[in-house]
Amino acid sequence: MEIKDLKKRFVEIYGGAEEDLRVFASPGRVNLIGEHTDYNGGYVFPAALTMKTTIIARPRKDREVHLAATDLECRVKASLDQLEQYKKLEWGNYQLGVADELQKAGYQLTGCELLYDDTVPHGGGLSSSAAIEVATALTLVTLGNEANGINKEVDMVEMAKIGQKAENNYVGVNCGIMDQFASAMGKANHAIFLDCKDLSYKLVPLNLKGYKIVISNTNKKRSLAHSKYNERRSECERGLEILKNVLPEASCLGEISYEQFKQYKHLIEDEVVRKRVEHVISEDDRVLKSVEALNKDDIAEFGKLMIASHNSLRDLYEVTGVELDTLVEEALKIEGVIGSRMTGAGFGGCTVSIVKEEAVEKFIEQVGKNYFERVGLQASFYVSEVGDGGKEIK
Ligand code: GLA
Repeated sequence: MEIKDLKKRFVEIYGGAEEDLRVFASPGRVNLIGEHTDYNGGYVFPAALTMKTTIIARPRKDREVHLAATDLECRVKASLDQLEQYKKLEWGNYQLGVADELQKAGYQLTGCELLYDDTVPHGGGLSSSAAIEVATALTLVTLGNEANGINKEVDMVEMAKIGQKAENNYVGVNCGIMDQFASAMGKANHAIFLDCKDLSYKLVPLNLKGYKIVISNTNKKRSLAHSKYNERRSECERGLEILKNVLPEASCLGEISYEQFKQYKHLIEDEVVRKRVEHVISEDDRVLKSVEALNKDDIAEFGKLMIASHNSLRDLYEVTGVELDTLVEEALKIEGVIGSRMTGAGFGGCTVSIVKEEAVEKFIEQVGKNYFERVGLQASFYVSEVGDGGKEIK
């Protein structure tokens, strides 16, 4: 919905005048390469999308937070003084989790009325939840600061960290920082080369001359994804513990080179754990090589690294599945596709492909048709633009 329509809808729901309304937005993300490396202190290379969460907001004088969404009937009313009790909400828990984490971190909030409009597909691996979390954090802190006479710019890296904490502690997914960081810190036409060890980052211009980033959604309902995600995390932790016996100074897998891994991999007796560690350490290398390739405008090399990343996620990390694998296989059959891989956590969700502009139409038609024939599901496609991170829209 356009902002003027959203404001109208807000007034229909909450009353009052359109003039007092504020607008905040934060996007979803696509990760170009560097998967399951963030919680291992490794590198990631995501970009913010133009699909986003938009919030129309107005402060209240009391301590109540009211939530509504354009695509849902349900309404939530919560008190900022009893946030612990809303963890089990079916909708509203991300927002209230953010409020809870903000207050625990010492932010002074105010009650408010919020209307959410999401254009990031839900549950599709494009970080619809991070978009909600970061947009909510930015909104609550901006309104809270103003209500309490605090004149300070909102620190977006802090908002990303708060969003991650809400997801870890309130929602119960042990995610890394990539999604929230990309949502908070993205910049139009740039990808973010982020070192998750210390959150140092560089914005890399995306000069995909003549190519488009095409996202393909498996539209597979994900089940057990949270528990499998948390299981991968603990497998990596076990691998690190073993390697620490010979590399005691390593505090995360991101600090171990591929050379070192090759030298010591025999110490990891459990084959599954060894495969998980090999994926993480080789994926880190691929991120570095990808950034180098893009800096040299070598899109073909970047495409090869994307394919190698997918293969590693399929064979070593085992988070792809028939839907993602089929989309990638079918994508790579199309002339003009130079790379394709799953993006996000896996177990369903989306792939990202780099496609020659002239081939995009054929890509969507052919990949969609062949995927349906082989898997029996209708895929969705988004030719994506790279947008800005979270901000107030004035
Ligand atoms: C999800 C998590 C991220 C990251 C990816 C995998 O999107 O939220 O933190 O771990 O999976 O790379």
